[in-house]
Amino acid sequence: MQKNYKVAVVGATGVVGKTALKVLEEKNFPNVSYILFSSEKSAGKKVEFMGKEYIVYELKESSFELGFDYAIFCAGGETSEKYVPIAVENGCTVIDNSSFYRMDPEVPLVVPEVNPEDIKKNKGIIANPNCSTIQAMLPLKPLDDKYTIKRIVYSTYQAVSGAGRYGIEDLEERNDGENLKKFPYSIYNNCLPHIDVFMEDGYTKEEHKMINETRKILHKPDLPITATTARVPVVNCHCESINLEFEKEFDLYDVKILLENYPGIIVVDNPDRELYPLPSKADGHDEVFVGRIRRDFSTKNALNLWVVADNLRKGAASNAVQILEKIFEQNKEN
Ligand SMILES: NC(=O)c1ccc[n+]([C@@H]2O[C@H](COP(=O)([O-])OP(=O)(O)OC[C@H]3O[C@@H](n4cnc5c(N)ncnc54)[C@H](OP(=O)(O)O)[C@@H]3O)[C@@H](O)[C@H]2O)c1
Repeated sequence: MQKNYKVAVVGATGVVGKTALKVLEEKNFPNVSYILFSSEKSAGKKVEFMGKEYIVYELKESSFELGFDYAIFCAGGETSEKYVPIAVENGCTVIDNSSFYRMDPEVPLVVPEVNPEDIKKNKGIIANPNCSTIQAMLPLKPLDDKYTIKRIVYSTYQAVSGAGRYGIEDLEERNDGENLKKFPYSIYNNCLPHIDVFMEDGYTKEEHKMINETRKILHKPDLPITATTARVPVVNCHCESINLEFEKEFDLYDVKILLENYPGIIVVDNPDRELYPLPSKADGHDEVFVGRIRRDFSTKNALNLWVVADNLRKGAASNAVQILEKIFEQNKEN
């Protein structure tokens, strides 16, 4: 007999939480019931979900006494820091979208196409990687398996939705000066080389996240990586220029075939017809779009890629729901 699961969605009123609800509706898992949570601010709101009206409840310490099997947290690091341990103590397995637990050695950091086997190592928490890390992992994994990555240079062009609803409002309302809700400068008609806070070494925390999370997911703790992450005036979908050096020689045609055949990747790469990945085309999709695949002639065994994905879907909500789906599949096998 199939088990019934009770799932909490925490942060259901935010941009990632709303996208998670959309993805859960699309998946339409059988025998799953949901309860939606937010902070006090949105508590009591009504949300259309799975064909009916759901009330959003305020998250409290006692909320997990309701006996959840799984929870998807989309409510920021502070909320995860406080409530995830309470959820786990109450027997709930958490898929956490915040960065709070990602680098904890006890917590698997998972992209289902790349390292699904790590899910089984969880002790109650599975972390969803940073949006810019997730989309890079899909093309990097098959290339690393075949040619062994020696060094990575990331340069990102990240959409405002990655900064949540107030980031979107700053762009859409063209906020400047006193009116800014999220960014230190106007993002309208601008480009900010600054995502998350600055660290002592001059990098931003977003850049640290890309470097450390890549090493953790690829199980290569010493891989040389550098990153520059920038916010651009695009509503949704992050773009990344990725420069790779490999230990082994590669054939460009083989690289394209390898990427085309990898699950979750769509190669869009036809310069003759001016075809390459674009945020406007990736929006609303779960696949990672890869193009501008070309040799870097400045050094040995080097490659350039342009990688675009929907940061709210594959970069957050869809990846989390895919982890849940993998868990359901693994439960069936046991
Ligand atoms: N945006 C992205 O592309 C992206 C990608 C990857 C990961 N993430 C991560 O996903 C998380 C959510 O990001 P977001 O962009 O969706 O932010 P957001 O749009 O600002 O939404 C935040 C959500 O968290 C809820 N919340 C805040 N404090 C809470 C509390 N104490 N208890 C319960 N709920 C609380 C809010 O509820 P109210 O409506 O009541 O305020 C809202 O539903 C963050 O950890 C972020 O780093 C985001």
